[in-house]
Amino acid sequence: MGTFISLSPEDTHRFGERLGQLAQAGWVIGLDGDLGAGKTHCVKGIAKGLGISERVTSPTFALVNEYPCGRLPLAHLDLYRLETMEAILGAGLDEYFEPRGVAVVEWMERWTGVLPLHFLRVRIGVLDGDKRKIEYDDFGA
Ligand SMILES: Nc1ncnc2c1ncn2[C@@H]1O[C@H](COP(=O)(O)OP(=O)(O)OP(=O)(O)O)[C@@H](O)[C@H]1O
Ligand SMILES: [Mg+2]
Repeated sequence: MGTFISLSPEDTHRFGERLGQLAQAGWVIGLDGDLGAGKTHCVKGIAKGLGISERVTSPTFALVNEYPCGRLPLAHLDLYRLETMEAILGAGLDEYFEPRGVAVVEWMERWTGVLPLHFLRVRIGVLDGDKRKIEYDDFGA
């Protein structure tokens, strides 16, 4: 468990980049925080830390964007647009919760299925202006 204070989008990107450097095969990183907290910024950093040079965009229409070309393959999921618990559980996302590479899931708090095996929870809280409090917990096996 730890806390990181971000003062800018660049700080949040750097926090993500270090996570990407540390990430191991099988990790699921769950990102929570209000709309516009900075979850996607953090994912862009994670991708950079994994050595992914492709541009990372939010999976708006697709439920998942996959980036196979880094040190480890990255799957980027966003549960925001799945409206009900049934829709989330029925979407067949389970395979991403024991990933070959790394899975990053925005709005992970909406997940009500079985906990991933190697789970890192990251919560981004909005403080004043651009300031963010990033708290992380490791439930890793
Ligand atoms: N410290 C900060 N860290 C991250 N983003 C910041 C910070 N300060 C300001 N911002 C701004 O907040 C916005 C964060 O957008 P981002 O898409 O990353 O949020 P999100 O949590 O993914 O939102 P959504 O729930 O809609 O997916 C950007 O416009 C960014 O410039
Ligand atoms: Mg987002």
